[in-house]
Amino acid sequence: MLSIKDALSKDKVGKKVQVRGWIYRTRCSGGIVFAVLRDVTGTIQVAIKKGNVPDDDFEAANKAGIESSVIIEGEVVEDKRAPGGYEIRASGFKLVGAAEAFPITEYQSTELLLDLRHLWIRSREQTAVSKIKASLLRGAREWFYENDYIEVTPPIITGVAPEGSTTLFQVKYYDRIAYLSQSAQFYLESLIYSLEKVYALTPSFRAEKSRTPRHLSEYWHLEMEAAWVDNEGNMKVQEELVSAMVQNAVKECETELKLLKRDVSILKKVQPPFDRMKYDEAMEFLQKKGHEVSWGSDLGAVEERTLTVDRQVPVFVVNYPKELKPFYMKENPDDSRTYKNSDLLAPEGFGEIIGGSERETDNALLIERLRDIGESMDNYQWYLDLRKYGSVPHSGFGLGIERIVTWVCKLDHIRDSTPYPRTVARVYP
Ligand code: 4AD
Ligand code: MG
Repeated sequence: MLSIKDALSKDKVGKKVQVRGWIYRTRCSGGIVFAVLRDVTGTIQVAIKKGNVPDDDFEAANKAGIESSVIIEGEVVEDKRAPGGYEIRASGFKLVGAAEAFPITEYQSTELLLDLRHLWIRSREQTAVSKIKASLLRGAREWFYENDYIEVTPPIITGVAPEGSTTLFQVKYYDRIAYLSQSAQFYLESLIYSLEKVYALTPSFRAEKSRTPRHLSEYWHLEMEAAWVDNEGNMKVQEELVSAMVQNAVKECETELKLLKRDVSILKKVQPPFDRMKYDEAMEFLQKKGHEVSWGSDLGAVEERTLTVDRQVPVFVVNYPKELKPFYMKENPDDSRTYKNSDLLAPEGFGEIIGGSERETDNALLIERLRDIGESMDNYQWYLDLRKYGSVPHSGFGLGIERIVTWVCKLDHIRDSTPYPRTVARVYP
């Protein structure tokens, strides 16, 4: 048995091969069934001619609809008319699993494609996105491995709300209420006292009630935390990590990126260092571009688009006003109205892919801020303990995997960056 990619090669010409996969397209003309077969590696045209295969097999091939699974045996020939330049002339055809009339045809509404997601994920576009996502993740894991980070496994059921109580999903946890994790950050912070440099890839949950093209209710969150690292060091990790991820996808997935019509030459420019822009400069830039913002305004999708639409490489926005960010960040000694933090915005209009900061180490300040936001201290006692026993300067960040996939694949909507998008409107299939 050969993969389709291996069958599509000059040295296989004239040889008898076996391939298997799913029928992607099929037509019959002049007593020959031309079926395009796909497997994970690619597609190849197969010609099944009456007389060259047993009659029963020819009939089965003639009737087999798209998405039928089949095994084909035959000779590889060079044929300029065939897509890809090669064809298999079949001497054997075996139907493994017949397909009923496939419910997805060429032009379908977005809603129908979401209802039929379990079938739509077979499409060439979705397959390409899945491979690119895997390649980005592999690039990240390799980078962390090469730089001596230790992968850890924080809990998903939790009692803390690092990113605020408005987007929490509650779960009934025996006789109590618990939450689905918004971020593993606090648990990662607790692990740096022994492991120093850690990372985790976990699902994170946000009850985002508005429908936007960049929010999911469940997403994959790649988070890092490191001892002895300040906010500048934190940004260095981010620019190196993101560049390594993107360059790995460029190296491994050129075919898939091209299938999505992604300009790979732009992605090749994603190399460190990335520009750093102070929040104040971002405000000035936005005002010049006609946005009605002033110091203290948050950056939403629209503002982030303006900041990044003419860029090809991500950019950091640093030192946000405290009011806009969570309680755990370290105050900026140069301007106490702001934090030592950064958001990393993807270029070409995409916007935030990472949120990160140096962490506050002063318990008195943390307690004051927790009180201000009305959090019960009981759930945070353990977090405050961390500052009592050998506290050190430390920083970390969280990268939304589906956000980086959306940018790298240049997708219109985040839902296409994941096989089963979870949004306010949908939990099926
Ligand atoms: O900016 P956020 O909320 O930061 C944190 O959760 C920190 N505690 C992370 C840390 O420092 N360890 O989320 C981090 C990233 C965002 O930049 C974005 O990429 C992604 O998570 N994200 C989402 N992705 C998809 N759908 C959503 N609803 C998202 N919310 C955040
Ligand atoms: Mg954020």
